Amino acid sequence: MKTKIILFLNQKGGVGKTTSAINLGASLAEMGKRTLLIDIDSQGNLTSGVGLDARKPGVYEVLAGSAALNEVIQQTAVRNLFAIGSNIHMAGLAIELVNQDRREYFIRDAFSPLEGNWEYIIIDCPPSLGLVTINAMVWANEIIIPMQSEYFAMEGLTLLMHTIGNIKKSLNPELEVLGILFTMYSKRTRLSRDVVDDIVSYFDDLVFDTMIPRNIRLAEAPSHGLPINQYDGSCNGAKAYRALAKEVIKRGK
Ligand SMILES: Nc1ncnc2c1ncn2[C@@H]1O[C@H](COP(=O)(O)OP(=O)(O)OP(=O)(O)O)[C@@H](O)[C@H]1O
Ligand SMILES: [Mg+2]
Repeated sequence: MKTKIILFLNQKGGVGKTTSAINLGASLAEMGKRTLLIDIDSQGNLTSGVGLDARKPGVYEVLAGSAALNEVIQQTAVRNLFAIGSNIHMAGLAIELVNQDRREYFIRDAFSPLEGNWEYIIIDCPPSLGLVTINAMVWANEIIIPMQSEYFAMEGLTLLMHTIGNIKKSLNPELEVLGILFTMYSKRTRLSRDVVDDIVSYFDDLVFDTMIPRNIRLAEAPSHGLPINQYDGSCNGAKAYRALAKEVIKRGK
């Protein structure tokens, strides 16, 4: 089995990376796909959002050599959905890596033994294009870019596409953008619609048909440590992430 390694990437903060990583993962798992979430953000939002025990070792401990891969995988409340957590130690990782050989390959070297055991591995990035994120880009094969339809969206997206192009050329030729995902969308506002039109006219099919609506249930679920399909499986947010999962499965073929 070829594992699909999907990275939620955007250097801008608060665009829905973590929410989307959790709920795409939970929706794929609900469809019977064995899925592993990996949190590489020192904020640990995905870790708490799926109710992991943050005192257990996670990504940092694997990279530091103090824990084995099979010790860090935790089961979530959703069948088929597992996760590896992150903690505040990840904040210092980029500095620790700076002077190391193969500093861009730490994540790939440590985590690639997981490949083959999972249908999907979904990685949640910090809001930065620093060395930790670059490490994830070197291991991943597909990127989903979540974004809000707001002014300056195009500028941020252009920078991001440029960076992805550079990494593909220099470090990971397999890297592809799977799609651009609009999050917290509200079709009632004119600006939202204009920004979407603008980006669709430029990036065309790369934009997912599914747009994630602004939905309070999606914002509430993490404080209960649950993905949306467990917290309120019939709300609009849950439906949208199921539709996204179908699109992701279709695009991956
Ligand atoms: N569709 C949505 N509807 C309503 N609220 C949302 C939605 N998606 C995300 N949120 C809320 O918006 C905030 C930012 O979302 P999230 O944490 O997923 O973004 P992020 O890109 O991971 O942020 P960071 O860059 O800090 O890691 C959170 O409070 C989240 O609960
Ligand atoms: Mg986040």
